[in-house]
Amino acid sequence: MRVDVDEEGRWAEAVAERFCARLRQRPRLRVCLPTGSTPRGLYAAIAERVAGGQASLAEAEVLLLDEFGGLAPGDPARCATMLARDLLDRLDTPPAAVHRLDPDADDLDAECARYHRVVADGGLDLCLLGIGANGHVGLNEPGSPANAPTRQVALAAATIGAASRYGDGHAAPTWGLTLGMAEILEAREVWLLVSGAHKAAVLAEALEGPVTAALPASLLRSHGRLRVLADEPAAEGLSASLRSRAGDDETVDGGPRHGG
Ligand code: PGA
Repeated sequence: MRVDVDEEGRWAEAVAERFCARLRQRPRLRVCLPTGSTPRGLYAAIAERVAGGQASLAEAEVLLLDEFGGLAPGDPARCATMLARDLLDRLDTPPAAVHRLDPDADDLDAECARYHRVVADGGLDLCLLGIGANGHVGLNEPGSPANAPTRQVALAAATIGAASRYGDGHAAPTWGLTLGMAEILEAREVWLLVSGAHKAAVLAEALEGPVTAALPASLLRSHGRLRVLADEPAAEGLSASLRSRAGDDETVDGGPRHGG
């Protein structure tokens, strides 16, 4: 695990630069992207750099991390709507492919099995994740073990509250579809994006508390290529020894997927 703390107040820009460097290394990046509040500034910064010619997503494949159920297509709280608004609609050239979980499919188990195959066919080079205040990643809520597959989930109360902020307040989702912990942990590289003082306590618990399904983000510590990208307020609760575990940049190729 590497922990990078931005101390210069330019967290979104710094992560965007790192992301664009990955894209230049591997233009055909297969990347899983989250939505929500955390990545909004990051996506704006990426779009700006893409418009400036510093990188391109034209050959990349984007896979959406999760999706809420029970909302109309186009609802502002839908993850697909947020990703379009925050990133995709700002690109002159769209990615080579954008894959999504469809919560309106007739057979949700079949839809999750289909998405598992899409992910497995080529794997994920990089998986970006946010962290919920309750320690969820994607919609892998507390109680999700490391082998949890892509599946339909009931949302925790904290997640329903958070999701109601995304929409226009008329309805909050109570369930969703999510990439599983299993598929997340199979990604060749994982970046955990954490921004804001309101995430400091859960980040410290995830990185320095017990590794437990009760806090799914803690399970990411078993991944050999986990990079935590935090801003200063979010890193407030981390011990000095952990904060010093920032390392030199790596390439996406080679190296074990797992191993601490
Ligand atoms: P947020 O959500 O970025 O809106 O805080 C993060 C998450 O729930 O994963």
